[in-house]
Amino acid sequence: MSYQKILHSPELIQLYQQGHLFKVLSKFADHINQEKYLGAGTHAASFRHKKGREVLKICTKKISYFQHFPLLEHSRDTHAQQFQKQIDICYPYLLPVKNILYEDNYVFIYTQKLCHRLSISKITREMVAKIFRMVHFLTERNLLLTDLAPNNFGLREKRKHHRIFLYDYHDLQPISVDGKQLRTNWWKGIIKNLTLYMSAIYCRQNIKKYEKIMENFNQEGYQIIKKERLLPPPYIKLLYYVSSHPQNVNEERFCQLLEKCVENFR
Ligand SMILES: Nc1ncnc2c1ncn2[C@@H]1O[C@H](COP(=O)(O)OP(=O)(O)O)[C@@H](O)[C@H]1O
Ligand SMILES: [Mg+2]
Repeated sequence: MSYQKILHSPELIQLYQQGHLFKVLSKFADHINQEKYLGAGTHAASFRHKKGREVLKICTKKISYFQHFPLLEHSRDTHAQQFQKQIDICYPYLLPVKNILYEDNYVFIYTQKLCHRLSISKITREMVAKIFRMVHFLTERNLLLTDLAPNNFGLREKRKHHRIFLYDYHDLQPISVDGKQLRTNWWKGIIKNLTLYMSAIYCRQNIKKYEKIMENFNQEGYQIIKKERLLPPPYIKLLYYVSSHPQNVNEERFCQLLEKCVENFR
């Protein structure tokens, strides 16, 4: 079988070519194969598991988490178990890691519940409100997830209700270390995706236009969005704040402004 086809992720393919996946792929041959292949991104490849009720993911350890959150001393947990605990604290925003099935120096394998795809054309106000609460929750705890694109969210059905969860948290990292932000533009990916979700519920006709503005968001872009008055005032205020202090977006102030957006959803 050609593993290139089912791994897709350039990072996993490189590990494969270096011979680091030989052991794990033969051990999991019944689970990691073309027949069960579901999808792949930059860091992981996913496979249907437990008759399609779950997803099994093989993920590289090159993800930000393992670089930025070192293994705690005096802990009995392995590094992947530590990752699992960190993710589980973020329930109900992040889809829990169900089980860790394997771990070595290069990759780990874990399971999650299978989700339905989130389609931007079907996103609801409640879902967008939850995404805002999620960003607030994470920022308050000095946690950053930059890739909040629709293809990283899934839906789980509960009593005929669709609940949204982020199932890809592979880029989890701290915003600041010792009081210093690791990246001054940490907020950019967040704002880009929040604007996408806001335009999906408030001004669908402008999705493409606002997406373009967000490619390089600045004061000029802010002025255009402000003048059109299609997005709610608390969100416009947040856009004003980040576009006028692009190199100096304070986490606390960012959270306060997010809170106003959350209130506006009630
Ligand atoms: N819980 C899940 N339910 C359904 N599909 C999933 C789930 N997790 C991942 N996938 C599929 O696998 C792909 C890759 O997984 P993802 O966690 O996004 O890894 P990456 O960090 O490589 O983007 C996703 O784009 C999606 O198609
Ligand atoms: Mg992904």
